[in-house]
Amino acid sequence: MAADKKDFLAIDQHDTEFLRSVLDLAREQKPLARRHRLEATHPGRVLACVFAKPSLRTRVSFEVAIRQLGGSSLFITDQEIGMGTREAVADVARVMSRFVDGIMIRWFDQGEVDELAAAATVPVINGLTDLVHPCQVMADIMTIEEHLGTIEGKTVVMIGDGNNLANSWLNAAIRFPFNFILACPAGYDPAEQIVRKAEAGGASFMITHDPREAVTEAHVIYTDAFYSMGQEAEVEQRRRDFVGFQVNEELLAAADPEHIVLHCLPAHRGEEITDAVMDGPHSAILDEAENRLHAQRAILAILLK
Ligand code: CP
Ligand code: NVA
Repeated sequence: MAADKKDFLAIDQHDTEFLRSVLDLAREQKPLARRHRLEATHPGRVLACVFAKPSLRTRVSFEVAIRQLGGSSLFITDQEIGMGTREAVADVARVMSRFVDGIMIRWFDQGEVDELAAAATVPVINGLTDLVHPCQVMADIMTIEEHLGTIEGKTVVMIGDGNNLANSWLNAAIRFPFNFILACPAGYDPAEQIVRKAEAGGASFMITHDPREAVTEAHVIYTDAFYSMGQEAEVEQRRRDFVGFQVNEELLAAADPEHIVLHCLPAHRGEEITDAVMDGPHSAILDEAENRLHAQRAILAILLK
């Protein structure tokens, strides 16, 4: 792999033109992929999928995506490789780069993923860290554009935790012309460095602690679990702190009548979102899950060229 290899570690790492090329390819290939008419443009390419956390969507969509391009994948858990414990992160990167054509990684610490990418000579794709979840938000933007035509000028309102998804939305707001509002409980604001970067990057966003105010005129209502992977010890405290932040029919009554509802999944039905909303007429949640496949296949097709 050439020294000019590209990674996909965070949305704002790339310019709008690159991000648009991903979305365009994803949109173009989706109907072909659905009919099994995709060309195998990447024969022989192997994608290593490394996981330190559980996954349904990320694992299956990446493994299917590389197969659809004519390549294959390896599923590796951190229990086997012990990245940073059994072996230095940079050594894992250098050795893996001799075996595979790309690395997708779901990890805790973003710094270690950055370190992996810096030492790897093959593209590294972030499949979620504690800090960001860029592939998810690319699929989310694709879904919004399918349903609402364009993300331009739309208001995306996230109700819930200022977590890795909120951070990726703030990154996206630097690159795409939409308005992002996060309604989170006090004390659950997004990472400070991400907020500062969004300000410096000219993103249009607001952080509030009032979900009712936030949803007024929302075109997209977005939510995620109140507690993320790795925060299991905080579940009871968070359940108390997030009272009033459930996405339910009553809250959505104030949104734009044509709004859509998104949830990255997995959902805790009855907790951050009700059954009525998840399964209701405004829900685009299953399209959103499917679009993980199409958006990520486009990322792979471009990076593993
Ligand atoms: N949304 C998402 O990343 O799902 P998984 O945790 O199942 O991969
Ligand atoms: N914020 C969640 C997203 C899961 C896809 C987590 O990090 O667990």
